[in-house]
Amino acid sequence: MHLVATLALAGAILASLASAHPTPRAPSGHDHIHANCLASALMSRDDYAHLLRKRAAPVTDWSYEGATGPAFWSTINPNYTTCAMGTKQSPINLTPAETMSAAAPLTFMYPQTFAEVEVANLGRTVEVVVPAETAFIMRDGVSYSLVQFHVHAPSEHHVMSNQFDAEVHFVHRNPADPAALHVVGLFLSRSTAAANAPGKSMISWLDTFLAAVPAAPGEMVKVPNFPIGGVPALLEMSGPYWQYEGSLTTPPCSEGVRWVVANAPLTVSGSTISGLHSFMPFNARFTQKNVKP
Ligand SMILES: *[C@@H]1O[C@H](CO)[C@@H](O)[C@H](O)[C@H]1NC(C)=O
Repeated sequence: MHLVATLALAGAILASLASAHPTPRAPSGHDHIHANCLASALMSRDDYAHLLRKRAAPVTDWSYEGATGPAFWSTINPNYTTCAMGTKQSPINLTPAETMSAAAPLTFMYPQTFAEVEVANLGRTVEVVVPAETAFIMRDGVSYSLVQFHVHAPSEHHVMSNQFDAEVHFVHRNPADPAALHVVGLFLSRSTAAANAPGKSMISWLDTFLAAVPAAPGEMVKVPNFPIGGVPALLEMSGPYWQYEGSLTTPPCSEGVRWVVANAPLTVSGSTISGLHSFMPFNARFTQKNVKP
């Protein structure tokens, strides 16, 4: 593909994802807490202070509470009617009615590091935007490229009515069919049982991510040499895997999204979870009752 076409596609992907993404909230008094909670993370935010900062997110019209909250998304914008009328909405309460497999139903082709990523505080979530078409998953012969990953706290999916402390969504898109999305979900669960934690190299992506998030909603910072290499091994040891066809969990709630959710949570420290809450308000859509054919 020509460079210009590649850049145009990347721009289209980012623009369309931005429309499905949260906006900055008003700054709260909690923002300063995170620096203390995450002081042990690999690098401090000051390590990136010399790098370019810019506005990260457009304003959107929906939220997680009150009259613009999830129960009302379909009424606040005609583009969001799928949020109410859809029949394959996400998240769901995962039960044995869904397909589960012992082995991951996909293969990962991620690099060890990204040369540079953009870490954004979008107010309603925190997100890492990765370089276009540099990390892939393969599922049923189709290749999907990682576009970004972001966090919800508490988890959006439930497993047999249990909710976890947080959930990371790795959002992939088929470059040949930009409407075709594939999201891989990983639960986070707070625990003092460090013995359960995988090796440091397997979670350095999470530490690096959270240490770099700008304090102010709407800000973005560029982070070089981002260590993504631990993600495939981590996901491959977090099975078994739930699979179903669903939607975006934020407006416009578009369907046609393939989901794989790892059943076993990654155990993290309490300070990681409280650090997440210092950036974001509650940001989990309630579980959806889908129509089964
Ligand atoms: C609905 O989406 C279209 C296409 O993205 C956009 O041009 C339009 O402004 C949106 N409508 C509203 C009310 O936001």
